[in-house]
Amino acid sequence: MTIRILSTSPLVGPALQNLGARFPELTIAPFRSIAWKMSLANAEALVGLLSEPLSETDLDLAPKLRVIGTYSVGVNHLPVEACEKRGITIVNTPGVLTDATADLALSMLLALTRRLKDGEALARSGHWKGWAPDQVLGTGLARKVCGIMGTGPIGKAFARRVFALGMRPVFWDRENKGTPVDFGAGIARRMPLADLLPISTVLSLHCPLTAETRGLLTRPMLDLLPKGAFIINTARGGILDEEAVVHMLHQGLLGGVGLDVYEGEPNINQAWFRAPRTVLLPHLGSATQETREAMAELLCDGIAATLGGKLG
Ligand code: DGY
Repeated sequence: MTIRILSTSPLVGPALQNLGARFPELTIAPFRSIAWKMSLANAEALVGLLSEPLSETDLDLAPKLRVIGTYSVGVNHLPVEACEKRGITIVNTPGVLTDATADLALSMLLALTRRLKDGEALARSGHWKGWAPDQVLGTGLARKVCGIMGTGPIGKAFARRVFALGMRPVFWDRENKGTPVDFGAGIARRMPLADLLPISTVLSLHCPLTAETRGLLTRPMLDLLPKGAFIINTARGGILDEEAVVHMLHQGLLGGVGLDVYEGEPNINQAWFRAPRTVLLPHLGSATQETREAMAELLCDGIAATLGGKLG
């Protein structure tokens, strides 16, 4: 039995089928199903999702494995060091999901600051009595500071978006070099987190989940934010202390929180459903047709290149 490519999903668009035609055989089997486990032994390439963590034990069961393609830019669900040691290439999808993810972060920010859920509820309630001076007042963003965690492509793309709204972006990143950040539409300061948080009306997370960022935003750190600040997370769960953030919402200390990612997802801490001023999404950062097709193409091209030969 020759299984060169084992995928847990057909992905979106034709890329995986084209790859399968080029490198037979292609097997598609649900993650951790019996068929998937049985196919590991002969797989030279694995294709999987960010919701499907692999361990070193999985690698032991796949002695022919040469490449793992993850349908995501994040690789925090993969045993990266073990792959490096074994010479297994990891292919991910940077670049093509930058705009989609930054757009989603901006959508959540505007939904929160302009109180779209409250406005829509009033419009649908049947009790709207007409325009009123103080009705569903939101928060303006122009001239305020947006603290951005992460100086990668998505952080910079989000900076361009809030800059277009008249906000002043400032950055924090793990390297903490102190040098300014060119985000494409301007130059912004790069600051230590303890200096960035107190001036940030908006805090948006765009850094990967690593040993350094896991649990970084604890309650004492979050307490540095100004009263009424907004937090947006389209990066990864586990960077901010969710219990602390929920508590701060109930205490009226935050203007709102938009989450696309959660610690332990797809399980969402029930406390979120009772928290006020939230927008909660099911990890939709890259979820556009165009982006998911582009991700599949990039992933399959990377696998083809590793297995030997570009797709025609
Ligand atoms: C990724 O690809 O890592 C993103 O989380 C998708 O939204």
